[in-house]
Amino acid sequence: MIFKKTIGIDLGTDTTQIYLGGSGIVVNEPSIVAFNNTSNRIVAVGSEAKKMLSRTPAHITAIRPISNGIIADFDMVKEMIQSFLKKENIPWSWITRTIVSVPTNLTEVERKSVEDLMREVGANPVYLIEQPLAAAFGSRLDVYQPTAHFIVDIGAGTTDMAIISLNGIVVSKRLKIAGDYLNAEIIRGVKEELKLNIGEPTAEEIKIEVGSVIPWNDKLDLVIRGRDVQSGLPREMTIKDTQVRFWLVRPVKLIIEAIKDLIESAPPELVGDIYKNGIYFCGGGSLLRGIDQLIEKEIGVYVTVVEDPLTCVVRGTGIVCDHFEEHKHLLNNFSRLNIVSGKAVE
Ligand SMILES: Nc1ncnc2c1ncn2[C@@H]1O[C@H](COP(=O)(O)OP(=O)(O)OP(=O)(O)O)[C@@H](O)[C@H]1O
Ligand SMILES: [Mg+2]
Repeated sequence: MIFKKTIGIDLGTDTTQIYLGGSGIVVNEPSIVAFNNTSNRIVAVGSEAKKMLSRTPAHITAIRPISNGIIADFDMVKEMIQSFLKKENIPWSWITRTIVSVPTNLTEVERKSVEDLMREVGANPVYLIEQPLAAAFGSRLDVYQPTAHFIVDIGAGTTDMAIISLNGIVVSKRLKIAGDYLNAEIIRGVKEELKLNIGEPTAEEIKIEVGSVIPWNDKLDLVIRGRDVQSGLPREMTIKDTQVRFWLVRPVKLIIEAIKDLIESAPPELVGDIYKNGIYFCGGGSLLRGIDQLIEKEIGVYVTVVEDPLTCVVRGTGIVCDHFEEHKHLLNNFSRLNIVSGKAVE
């Protein structure tokens, strides 16, 4: 006999992760779908589809159906989740309930869209948890303590930040400045200053291999290839960490400004707690070289990058899955203060 399980899903702009109650993370795949334009049939999802991104023949399109943490293509996300679960041989008949982590400050329509999608896929009932709260669990913070915890999740599409106290989000803020935005700044910088056109995968490689936001002890450089802006021909060149730093510091400073704003909007007693407890960073963007030191210097508060920051949210959702009765009152509980900011906000 199979005991029914709870699953937790983190639908990230970059990565979709699924936690199967009692087992652990069973899916950790890029949120990418490749489909045939003529038949509209899906040809690959996840890592298979990632290989096709920006290298697809004319009749195949590879897309990221989640944009800035929000479902951009309902049908594609549905198909993607179905394929991931099918690949792992997990039927919905095993699942008793589903917990989906969502960014803070979603509109009611956006939240309903997540619930509708999950129901259409086969999940019932569906619960939502705000990502910073899940990240707090994933960081092993005791959210029930009467002290404030400040969590910042720098993902691919959004930077989501929240001050949590007594198991609830007191203030939160979401910015559309995160990993994808940093890649776009690298593409722009390489084009304008080095006169080379590069694609998103090269920009991501530059960010991860040589990206930093403070002067770095080891001199880092990387050979990149692209198309010369003037001649249109292929060209190879070496890019240095100092050049890349210049393009990354400006957007990271915008994140720092948002952190300062959120601290300013918090009740004074909580600010004291934050000073004592520091700020916790998670999400892939927290791995950027020197980001913790720059933030510490600019804000004057101790910064901790949590262990395994890329899986923090789904692991936190997993803790709620495995101790559902204990934590269920935290689900479907949404922050009241709506602050969404950032240059790219529509
Ligand atoms: N070592 C690194 N240095 C800098 N950035 C990194 C590093 N590793 C991963 N990233 C970036 O982290 C981002 C992915 O992080 P994460 O998986 O937390 O995002 P996500 O949850 O899918 O997105 P979101 O939460 O915004 O919906 C990507 O933009 C990736 O380029
Ligand atoms: Mg995320």
